[in-house]
Amino acid sequence: MTVLITGGAGYIGSHCCVAFLQAGHDIVVLDNLSNATSISLDRIAEITGQKVVYEQADIRDQAKLETILKQHRCSAVVHFAGLKAVGESTKVPLAYYDNNVVGTHRLLSAMANCGVKQMIFSSSATVYGEPQFLPLTEDHPTRAVNPYGRTKLIIEDMLRDVAASDPSWGFGILRYFNPVGAHDSGLIGENPLGIPNNLMPFITQVADGRREQLSVFGNDYDTRDGTGVRDYIHVTDLVEGHLRAHEVLASGSAPSNCFAVNLGTGNGYSVLEMVRAFERASNKEIRFSFAPRRDGDVAECYANTELAHKVLNWKAERDLDAMCRDTWNWVCKNPRGYETAVD
Ligand code: NAD
Ligand code: WQD
Repeated sequence: MTVLITGGAGYIGSHCCVAFLQAGHDIVVLDNLSNATSISLDRIAEITGQKVVYEQADIRDQAKLETILKQHRCSAVVHFAGLKAVGESTKVPLAYYDNNVVGTHRLLSAMANCGVKQMIFSSSATVYGEPQFLPLTEDHPTRAVNPYGRTKLIIEDMLRDVAASDPSWGFGILRYFNPVGAHDSGLIGENPLGIPNNLMPFITQVADGRREQLSVFGNDYDTRDGTGVRDYIHVTDLVEGHLRAHEVLASGSAPSNCFAVNLGTGNGYSVLEMVRAFERASNKEIRFSFAPRRDGDVAECYANTELAHKVLNWKAERDLDAMCRDTWNWVCKNPRGYETAVD
């Protein structure tokens, strides 16, 4: 039986493909390449020594989804495909509802028609909104603070409703904190187009000279050094959590037919701690200056990881130095992304 990986050419999806192939699963990757290149699929093949079965398709194309699910005899779906930029979602909300909500609805409809009833879904810690307490447990109240976050919450609700309607469905909702890092081969990694929104890609572009300096958004938060604190998690740890979630669903040992768990490390690091760690890993100076707080940012956000440990028997293992080292290795080997690999 085969696992369908939607968005498998993207940043997290490509690492997930490697993890699933190396664990002995057959996979088929579905991606419309709206935010990825098929070179990532060649790299997955290079790392694993296995051919990658790929279907270029859009998750909103239900008829094509049904053909793919049947043709490849899929038994489960790991669902990464979607749009993910918070700022962009406030400018083009309908595109977010269309890709994320409509897309997931079509995917679920196709799965229902084909009798494929297990899904692992990429949710986000953004569903917790402003933390009322820390570390964040899965029963913390949810509240969307931007259209992107709202699409994740709507999808989570849709999965809970479908699960409640029929016990033969199985959903693992994984709420990611801040994924960073790259595969330790340096062959796959994050490849943002344009000016990066997220901290780690911005830091890498300062380190490699593409940007002059980092703006640190806010130094007056109530944190140990005044800058924002987040729970950064190595992408390899993150995708190992998916592998465990798949095993738990497939073996019938899930606590319920729709469970939600945090994927984080439980540790918070400040922006300045990230800058220092990246300087150590890259041996480059990261120039920065303080700028006003960014709208919508919270002071601190980090996970309670106990439920993930209990349900998935999983814990993140890689530390901040590994996250920075592997990111820098990827950037050095691919200075401008996949198109610019150097030996
Ligand atoms: P990404 O953009 O690198 O990957 C998403 C992939 O989905 C891309 O390859 C894109 O081409 C594809 N895609 C988008 N819309 C599609 C559609 N309609 N049909 C088919 N393919 C489509 O992003 P990522 O960082 O790998 O994120 C993967 C998932 O994890 C997303 O759902 C995102 O919301 C979620 N997530 C990401 C983060 C993060 O910080 N990276 C944090 C929390 C949750
Ligand atoms: C981290 C810290 C910034 C850039 C976002 C989404 C979230 C999830 C992960 C998808 C904050 C500071 C950043 C910069 C800075 N994505 N920063 N200068 O905001 O925690 O989470 O990505 O689900 O939904 O909101 O991550 O990497 O943008 O910011 O000082 O140029 O770095 O203020 O404290 P964030 P981030």
